[in-house]
Amino acid sequence: MSSPPLASRTPGTSRAPDVLVVGGGVVGLVTAWRAAQRGLATGLVDPQPGGGAAQVAAGMLAAVTELHYGEGTLLALNLASARRYPAFAAELADLTGHDLGYRRCGTLAVALDADDRAHLRELHALQQRSGLDSEWLSGRECRRLEPMLAPGVRGGLRVDGDHQIDPRRLAGALLAACEHAGVVFHRTWAERLTVGRGDRATGVVTSDGTALEAGQVVLAGGSLSGRLTGVPEAVLPPVRPVKGQVLRLTMPRTRPLLHRTVRAVVRGNSVYLVPRESGELVVGATSEELGWDTTVTAGGVYELLRDAHELVPGITELPLTETRAGLRPGSPDNAPLLGPTALDGLLLATGHYRNGVLLTPVTGDVMADVLTTGELPEEARAFTPRRFGTDPALLRPSAPSERTEQPV
Ligand code: GLY
Repeated sequence: MSSPPLASRTPGTSRAPDVLVVGGGVVGLVTAWRAAQRGLATGLVDPQPGGGAAQVAAGMLAAVTELHYGEGTLLALNLASARRYPAFAAELADLTGHDLGYRRCGTLAVALDADDRAHLRELHALQQRSGLDSEWLSGRECRRLEPMLAPGVRGGLRVDGDHQIDPRRLAGALLAACEHAGVVFHRTWAERLTVGRGDRATGVVTSDGTALEAGQVVLAGGSLSGRLTGVPEAVLPPVRPVKGQVLRLTMPRTRPLLHRTVRAVVRGNSVYLVPRESGELVVGATSEELGWDTTVTAGGVYELLRDAHELVPGITELPLTETRAGLRPGSPDNAPLLGPTALDGLLLATGHYRNGVLLTPVTGDVMADVLTTGELPEEARAFTPRRFGTDPALLRPSAPSERTEQPV
């Protein structure tokens, strides 16, 4: 692979940046921050940087408790990012002075009935086969750790290594870090990718008609990443929106209801309660394949509250302070797409699905590596966008009429 060229520079005029990141969620921000730290002149396009799915996400760093069959490769990346978290959070907090709400509190996954218990036993066996730390507890031992759990809890898994961070604070800190590192923000939509001679991505045109040029373009638009006009069909990221409804309640700070993240599968639905030091209790999340719909529904709120109440009956006393829905960027194999595409100059950092917050530190490092060297580091090679195949005949830019246009 050839090394990335520098952007065109004309002495005496403002030069195009080396890197332009499209999308200012946590993945776009960390990419821009790390790239700028490596000395690359970096711009970022987003009408509201710091927004995106992180504004809804609970912020569980759940590499072990969200382990699924057949996702061993993703597990390795999740663990690599979880290991980075302490130093990453400390660096970001030191640099910006922001409190990130990073809590090394661990997680308890519990079972309410025989089916849930069998499911958790399976998960425990998979964790052990994968060499992960988790401990089986009886119902009584679970309640000793978390006394507000329902008397019906029949057992659980204690995972002391799955922590949490407040994604809204993380986004705010990354924004400040980018500003500190000299990232230039374009607070507008990217409307179209521009592809120059020699089939190379050269920048984007924004919704106000401004042409922004760059040496390399990173598409980090979360669930919208597949909708940027001008991206050739062959390299269009296969991401889709997966809706998650999430509730926020408030616990008395002096009497928190829970001390660690508590989660369960109740009648086949995953539910989790994430208690923050601030007193916020996040309850999530639905998982719905409904396209771009972000409506908060009575049914979604009802099911989350019903399942959370079965786990922790005391939640009904708490004020319900927020209901919101966000869109996870799902990919065909549930893993992110990181690095160069078959179109020179266009890279992806998207498709993080359920793990965007967890994967933020490793994504920043991987993207900064590939942007400076042209090579994906070993730990990220399996996540190349090229794994989904490329038909070179489809490398020409698609016409706007070929699919719904959407600024990103
Ligand atoms: N990782 C939690 C969720 O996607 O709901």
